Amino acid sequence: METQTPERKKIIFSAIQPSGSITLGNYLGALKNWVALQDEYQCIYALADLHAITVRQDPAQFRRHALEAYALFLACGIDVEKSLFFIQSQVHTHAELAWVLNCYTQFGELSRMTQFKDKSAKHPENVNAGLFTYPSLMAADILLYQSDLVPVGADQKQHLELARNIAERFNGLYSPTFRVPEGYIPKVGARIMSLQDPTRKMSKSDENANAWIAMLDKPDDIVRKCKRAVTDSEACVRYAEGKAGVNNLMGIYSAVTGKDYEEIEREFEGKGYGEFKLAVAEAVVEELRPIQERYAKYIADKAYLEECYSAAAQKALALSSRTLNKVMKKVGFLGRG
Ligand code: TRP
Repeated sequence: METQTPERKKIIFSAIQPSGSITLGNYLGALKNWVALQDEYQCIYALADLHAITVRQDPAQFRRHALEAYALFLACGIDVEKSLFFIQSQVHTHAELAWVLNCYTQFGELSRMTQFKDKSAKHPENVNAGLFTYPSLMAADILLYQSDLVPVGADQKQHLELARNIAERFNGLYSPTFRVPEGYIPKVGARIMSLQDPTRKMSKSDENANAWIAMLDKPDDIVRKCKRAVTDSEACVRYAEGKAGVNNLMGIYSAVTGKDYEEIEREFEGKGYGEFKLAVAEAVVEELRPIQERYAKYIADKAYLEECYSAAAQKALALSSRTLNKVMKKVGFLGRG
């Protein structure tokens, strides 16, 4: 993590929760972009497993999901030589700074978070304090690394805004301590929606498994899910308002093939949705094939995975400790000797 080159590379930080399967939506919306950013920026990526326990997790499954997600991200092209890619729970500075930041975050601010309101309405049986203070942990993730840029989807914008406010507040109360990060809007951002209800984001927590494609789905499943995707009765492949289902499939096809919407409209002129859906499915299968092959190799090599995430955790600890130590000192904690 050397930053002394004359032109300091900007630091990008982002994280994804490893709970459950990683979806095609995660990949096209975030991961693929993470991979693309690795040359231009100093990238720091994390599996946000501490965030994931705001929802109850089965221990054995949770452990497996973290390892699988780590292997899958490597298979997608996250390069541990170029980027720092670690597991949040293995770097204790995150939980520590989160606690401190909790004391600089107002109840009122957290109460206004729309994700908290949505999630607590959805799971009234487990509205735990972690769910409420989740944004302070996310702020800690970002601020520990003096991040310049944070690529986030629309659903995390409010949390990033809060992280900026917390940073500014702390800097103002003491002295400049945190770099105040900016959001990063990717040049090509694909917001992939549910195949069954294209007004909602594709999500692994969707009970209808036909609504989302997992990165490790078999070709047959991908074809079946694409075939069943909700469209409309116009039977014309064009990108337009009121055609959320077709728009979404075009978005997927475009993100995978690199073709723009006009090209896609021309390609499927006079053709029906059946043919279009099959083309989408085949493009997705081809995109995922090499990733799945690499994944199979990584997941079979637990020792290598452990080597990677342990080394990354050590580096992340060293880096983040610099910020945490400054914070502790400024707040007035007695040094640790
Ligand atoms: N909360 C984010 C999500 O659920 C994941 C996350 C955790 C994150 N820490 C972060 C994203 C820091 C960006 C920066 O999608």
